[in-house]
Amino acid sequence: MNILLTGGAGYIGSHAVVALAAAGHTPIVLDDFSNSHPQVLERLRRLLGVPVRCELGSVADVTRTRALMERHQVHAVIHFAAYKAVGESVSAPLKYYDNNIRGLVRLLQAMDAAGCRNIVFSSSATVYGQGGTMPIAEDAPRGHTNPYGHTKLVCEEILGAVQSSSRAWRVAILRYFNPAGAHVSGLIGEDPGEVPNNLMPYVSQVACGKRPYLVVHGDDYPTPDGTGVRDYIHVEDLAAGHVRAVEVLADSVEGFTINLGTGQGHSVLEVLHTYEEACGREIPYRVGPRRPGDVPTCWADVSRARALLEWRATRTLHDMCVDAWRWQSRNPEGLRRPAPVRPEPATQRLFWPGRTEIPYASPREPRGLAGIGWRPGSAWDWEKSIRWQLRPRLTGEHP
Ligand SMILES: NC(=O)c1ccc[n+]([C@@H]2O[C@H](COP(=O)([O-])OP(=O)(O)OC[C@H]3O[C@@H](n4cnc5c(N)ncnc54)[C@H](O)[C@@H]3O)[C@@H](O)[C@H]2O)c1
Repeated sequence: MNILLTGGAGYIGSHAVVALAAAGHTPIVLDDFSNSHPQVLERLRRLLGVPVRCELGSVADVTRTRALMERHQVHAVIHFAAYKAVGESVSAPLKYYDNNIRGLVRLLQAMDAAGCRNIVFSSSATVYGQGGTMPIAEDAPRGHTNPYGHTKLVCEEILGAVQSSSRAWRVAILRYFNPAGAHVSGLIGEDPGEVPNNLMPYVSQVACGKRPYLVVHGDDYPTPDGTGVRDYIHVEDLAAGHVRAVEVLADSVEGFTINLGTGQGHSVLEVLHTYEEACGREIPYRVGPRRPGDVPTCWADVSRARALLEWRATRTLHDMCVDAWRWQSRNPEGLRRPAPVRPEPATQRLFWPGRTEIPYASPREPRGLAGIGWRPGSAWDWEKSIRWQLRPRLTGEHP
């Protein structure tokens, strides 16, 4: 199948690219690189042995997305593209409602116009709000504690309405628990821009000396060691879950909603000590107050995933820590390290020829690439246009 991955250059999306290609599918990436680095495409090329088809753009651009889907005869879409930082969603809620909700609506419009109505949606355990009885099953009450969680809840509702509107639509909602770890190669992994939002990348940064210590938010929860318990799932297991979901969806008459987790919880201190074993260093920490909105425990009921997808997570917490440390120690600056002014030749080749739109204009080039003699159509011009568009991200310049 030809599968469009919106946000396919991001953390989970890039691992899904590898898993889909390994399963014989053709991944096509649409990403605006708002939270990822084009270097990931070079890493994916090294892993797959061939360039990844990638289009630079936003899911909110209906015309572009529709054209991309028609050009590549896309059979299904996996919609990863969204903003995901809970804290930022509290301080900038409109940014989140706009990108996450409007982005989904525009994507669905493009899919409808292109006649492709199979969608797998990246949701989150955050839609269970304050939680309840553990393990959490898919029919547990839902809620939200921050604008990010609210966007996921609203997106699920939109997808439910779209699916009910016509039997042509098939929707798979995947609720991830806590993705962690990195690809075993150490070539791709989570690349948080500034302060990591999640525990594992934060621990990684303390382990490599980028941060002095970890703050454990509360050690007086009703859990064995008093710290919060979560269901961590290796990102490669998660990627494999997407492959199964997209395959099962193609053969199903209706959609489904599924938890993707391991069904097992680990406390903050358990993660910390397992990471210490993996990296062979002590990881300093301090105990701080509880964070508002945090629940004591959260882990998944994974029975539906096992029955419907015939999938289960196979990697342990130790595997996640070992792989996260390999990624962190080999890429201490992630993929955002200062890059040469001219991208490496391989990076230029990673984009598929064939786009014909005039790329973005800028204050310096108000007529876009037409202003510097760009003409649509040739592979040479294509590479030049992409280089021009990516220049700010590759050089760190912001025009
Ligand atoms: N990582 C987690 O802990 C976690 C947990 C639960 C759910 N999720 C969801 O999974 C999805 C993927 O998460 P991730 O961790 O890979 O995040 P990520 O930020 O690493 O990847 C998201 C990608 O989408 C791109 N993007 C954002 N808005 C876009 C737009 N409008 N058009 C095109 N591209 C756009 C970003 O540049 C980035 O490459 C998100 O929807 C997220 O909410 C993530």
